Amino acid sequence: MKVIIDSAERIAAMAAQQYVALLKRKPNAILGGATGSTPLGLYAELVRLNKAGEISFKDASSFNLDEYVGLDGTHDQSYRYFMDHNLFDHIDIDKTRTHVPSGIDVSDPAAYDKQIEAAGGVDLQLLGIGNNGHIGFNEPGTPFGSLTHIVELTESTREANKRFFNSIDEVPTHAVTMGIKTIMNARSIILMAIGSSQAEIVKKFIQGPVTTDVPASILQLHPFVEVYLDEKAAALL
Ligand code: F6R
Repeated sequence: MKVIIDSAERIAAMAAQQYVALLKRKPNAILGGATGSTPLGLYAELVRLNKAGEISFKDASSFNLDEYVGLDGTHDQSYRYFMDHNLFDHIDIDKTRTHVPSGIDVSDPAAYDKQIEAAGGVDLQLLGIGNNGHIGFNEPGTPFGSLTHIVELTESTREANKRFFNSIDEVPTHAVTMGIKTIMNARSIILMAIGSSQAEIVKKFIQGPVTTDVPASILQLHPFVEVYLDEKAAALL
């Protein structure tokens, strides 16, 4: 893994340049999207670059990591809504080629893997990391061989995400997420972490053993991962 440490602003700008390079080399690249607070700076930078004519998404496609079960794309806490409002509505991507797993039709989650494969596979997967080491919503204990599946969210994840809802009772109990194998199938991966609350888990997943107790630790075995950290998230390395 290559680890890059700088200010939150600079890591967003540097990560965005990886998208510029990829889309220049491969205009129809397949991008793996993430939600949450961490990618917001990167998405704002991609919007800026797109408006400035320095990057085009017009032939690109995207597949997002995850979605809450029970929320449709019009719900303002759904991940489809998040992606539309923070990225897709502001760039020149063809919305019909943007994919977020359905939180409503969850009859065959692994069909998402087949869809990704049929599209040619993810070129660049973006990840944040949960305080418990989750990537996507693959909580500790998830088998490394997992494909897209339904998960029951841990109390700590629901607690962490309740800030976006009126109360904890409104936070969905389940989500559909790409599996760890789905994520590892991506040709390249960027993981971003910002802030001191992530410092402990950042140290564990980079410098600790590869274990299902820390799902992100599997990334140590991926051939092309870049980890972008701000100084606070990198403080314990
Ligand atoms: C989001 C996702 C999650 C988040 C993680 C960090 O699609 O899959 O794994 O990346 O929970 O969230 P933030 O960025 O809000 O700290």
